[in-house]
Parts: sequence; structure tokens; C-alpha cells
Amino acid sequence: MEHAIEMIGITKTFPGVVANDKVTLRVADGEVHALLGENGAGKSTLMSILFGAYNADSGTIRIHGKEVDIKDPNVATELGIGMVHQHFKLVHNYTVTENIVLGMEPTRRLGLLDIGRAEKRVAKLSETYGLKVDAKALVEDITVGAQQRVEILKTLYRNANIIIFDEPTAVLTPQEIEELIQIIRRLKEEGKTIVLITHKLKEIKAVADRCTVLRRGACIGTVDVADVSEQQLAEMMVGRAVEFEIEKKPARIGEVVLSIKNLSVADQAGHLKVRDLSVEVHKGEIVGIAGVDGNGQTELLYGLAGLSPVASGTILLDGQDITKATIRKRIELGLGHIPEDRQKHGMVSDFSVAENCILKNYYQKPYSNRYGLLDQKRMEADASQLIVQFDIRAGQGSKTKAGSLSGGNQQKTIVAREINLSPHVLLIAQPTRGLDVGAIEYIRHRIIAERDKGRGILLISFELDEIMNLCDRIATISKGSIVGIFAQHEVSEREIGMMMAGSRREGGEA
Ligand SMILES: Nc1ncnc2c1ncn2[C@@H]1O[C@H](COP(=O)(O)OP(=O)(O)O)[C@@H](O)[C@H]1O
Ligand SMILES: [Mg+2]
Repeated sequence: MEHAIEMIGITKTFPGVVANDKVTLRVADGEVHALLGENGAGKSTLMSILFGAYNADSGTIRIHGKEVDIKDPNVATELGIGMVHQHFKLVHNYTVTENIVLGMEPTRRLGLLDIGRAEKRVAKLSETYGLKVDAKALVEDITVGAQQRVEILKTLYRNANIIIFDEPTAVLTPQEIEELIQIIRRLKEEGKTIVLITHKLKEIKAVADRCTVLRRGACIGTVDVADVSEQQLAEMMVGRAVEFEIEKKPARIGEVVLSIKNLSVADQAGHLKVRDLSVEVHKGEIVGIAGVDGNGQTELLYGLAGLSPVASGTILLDGQDITKATIRKRIELGLGHIPEDRQKHGMVSDFSVAENCILKNYYQKPYSNRYGLLDQKRMEADASQLIVQFDIRAGQGSKTKAGSLSGGNQQKTIVAREINLSPHVLLIAQPTRGLDVGAIEYIRHRIIAERDKGRGILLISFELDEIMNLCDRIATISKGSIVGIFAQHEVSEREIGMMMAGSRREGGEA
């Protein structure tokens, strides 16, 4: 087999962590090679070394059989290696072509930029690879998916024959993901070698030839994708069997517990982000809000939780109007909130796990007496119980600083606190974002257990899998309004994806 890339025995350490531990990766010429691993497994580090953004502590790299020293990204570019980063590096008020030629402008003899020639070449490349990008458009006017295709064009413009994608689908809608998969196939047909970083097994099955799995910095192995199931890939990634779809009983739906009527909420700059939105949540059901990031989800939850004022409309909790209630009042009436931004709204990093566990009821019995004195012993005893119950891994038990926990354990701490307050309604945003497969499985189980206790749950997630698996009803949000609401079994992931992109389906009331 002819190898485009050989990375042999690569080690890279950061203070306190071995990000890559003697990792070996061999990518055949012209294949699509997936690099799979949980968060923090070392995937981006390994590819940043290949791209020259980091230098390895030890190990050897060969490109097309020749040993190389990739000191910086310029060397990588010269070797024909391009990288499409997780966070795009585009200048918004520049055109597509200006962004592409940035740093390598073709000049006329007098040193003037020959933008016309560049535009022609960009248009040609866009057509060859089916990228559908307008070379003259301003980057700020094109979709996120198109911006990603500009990044792809940037690598092609520099004649890359090895293209690395770092978690490219994280920012895309399901339709855009399908398009990207087509583009990757096209790149392969044209003879490019592709490395695709992902933790999504479906995508690997859809497009990759082989897959190398990293776990905690170490290389677990390389497999032919056709020979393994998603289940087997997940086991390699996590190190144990994983349950994908959580089994759940049919919902036992009670009366309406949360009623949102014609709600409008503005963001901090005063722009209306939630527009005339209405939805109801019953006891014992999970209602999911599906949508692309930035369509009003954040502001909806802020409005409901009392973090932002409501511009118009009403919110009823158990029939009581809480539209203008203080945050504390809402909590006392039974509103729980697992927020999107854990660090900012979910916990106080400098506080211990115990203190974080009573963040919302410290001033009440049994924690405070009528003189306002805090019962430390009681607080720590209760927290220790939650630590056991919710499997929170904290080095120094209830005294551990919340900020020093891993993301998954921070999230478990917040989930423990909110569930422990026995809320009637639980608002949940992005409960598993950035967590590894084991913690995801655990938190999803907990959410379903709350539903089965008769709580009403409103769940916001950008992960369609999560919405489809957990929710009893699914509402799709686009530009701040609900564009359709369906019972989970009535609708396909594909249809939800279309609605997320803004199209309405006829007769959508559930
Ligand atoms: N610049 C950095 N400084 C310190 N630690 C880092 C840095 N980049 C990555 N790490 C650590 O290295 C490990 C691997 O990270 P990364 O390669 O980003 O993983 P992945 O891309 O698989 O999610 C993680 O523990 C991460 O916290
Ligand atoms: Mg990464």
C-alpha cells in the first residue's frame, strides 16, 4: 500500500497531560481515513502536528514516503497538506475570493492584487468539486455550510492533496452533512487523501474507508470500516459496550405544567430572537426543541428561566403566571434549569461541589437556620450522597472545587442539584454537549427517569439524535418561531432537518 501519510510513534505532552502517546497513523494514498475518539482523546493534537501548528516531542512523519520536518503550517502547505479547522478562520467583511487568497495573493507585475484572475480560479475549483460557492459573495452573507466550503476551497487553491477535516459536521444541519459527505466523496474521486476527525460513527460508516481509533492519547487500532459495526467502533472508542438508544417506556402524559404563549424575547443587543412562540409541556413528557444554533434557543431558555426579561407573551407554570417573576421565585415554584453554559449559569467554579449542590436553596431549611447560619455538616453530608447517587468523580469528595472537575462531572453535579430539588418543570439545554459517550448515556438515563416521575421537561439540543431518542414531542424552531410540532413517531430526522432549515410541513400539529 502506498502511504500518503505515515506518523510513527508520535508523542506530544502538554503540562500534566500526554495528549498523544506513541501514536502511529498510516493513511493510504487516496483513501478517506477517519480519526475517531472521544473528547480529549488527542485527535486535534495529532492533526495539528501534521499541519505544523504543534511540534511533536518525538516521532517521525513521512509524506508520500519521504521523511519530513513540519515546523510550521507553511511547510505543511508546501507539502500539499491542508486543514479545514473546527472554527473557521475567515474574515467576514471580505469576499470569498479575498479570503481564499489571503496570505498568498497572486500579483500583477506592479504588485497589485489580480483579484479577477483569482476569482476565475476559485469559480473553476468550486465547479470541479461541486462546492457551489459564489466567488464574489461576502463571507458574512453566506451560510455556515458555505463558509466551510470556502475553507475547503482555500486548501484546494493551495494545491493540497491531503485534506484534514476537524469535526466538520459539528456546525452543520443534517442536509448540509449529506452535502459534505458528497463533497468528500468527490474529493476522493479526484485523487485527494482525506483525514476526517469525528466522534460520529454514522459519518464514518457513510464515507470512510478505514478508521484509526484514539483513546486517552493512545492508539487503539486501525480497522477497515466495512468490517466493523457502529457498535464495535463505539467499544473501541470508549473501552466498553455502549447503549446507543436508550430504551424508554411509553410516556404517561398528565396535564399541562408549562404553558408558553406568544412569547417574544430579545437578546442583549435588543434584537428580537424569540418571536411570538407558543408551546405547552405536559407532566410526564419530554418536549424537544430542535433547531440550528442561533435560532432563538438560548433566548427562549433565558426568558423562561428569568435570566432575560420577556418582551411580550406569558409563561404559566402550574397555571401561575411567572412571566415577570424573579429567578428565585421561579425556582421556589418548581422550575429547574440545566443551562447551556455550565460555567456561567450552572455553577460557581470557585465553590466546592457541596456548595454548588445547594446553590439554589442554601438560604432555606435544612441548610440555613433562622439566623441565616449555614449548616456545613448537613450540606456536606447531602452532597456526599449526591456524589454517590450521580457517580460524580471528584478527587476530594464534596470539598472538591467544582472548577477542577472534568466537563462530564461538572454536568453531573448540575444535573444532581437540579433533580434533587424535585422540580415540576425542568428546562434542559444541551445536556450532553462536549461530554464523552459514557457520561452522555448516564445523563440521558437520568432525564428519562425524571420524565417517568411525572416532571415536564423542555429540552433544547442541537443533536438530532438526542432529540429523536429522548423526546416524546418535537418542536422545530427557526428564526425564533416554532415551524412545526410533532409526536416523535410521526416525523423523521430528515423532515426535522428540512424544517430546521426553515421549510414548513403541512398539517403540523401534535
Ligand atoms: N494547547 C493545549 N494546552 C494544554 N493542553 C492541551 C492543549 N491542546 C490539547 N490539550 C489537551 O490534550 C488532550 C487532547 O486534546 P485534543 O487533541 O484537543 O483532543 P480531541 O481533539 O480528541 O478532543 C486533552 O486532554 C486536552 O485538554
Ligand atoms: Mg478536537
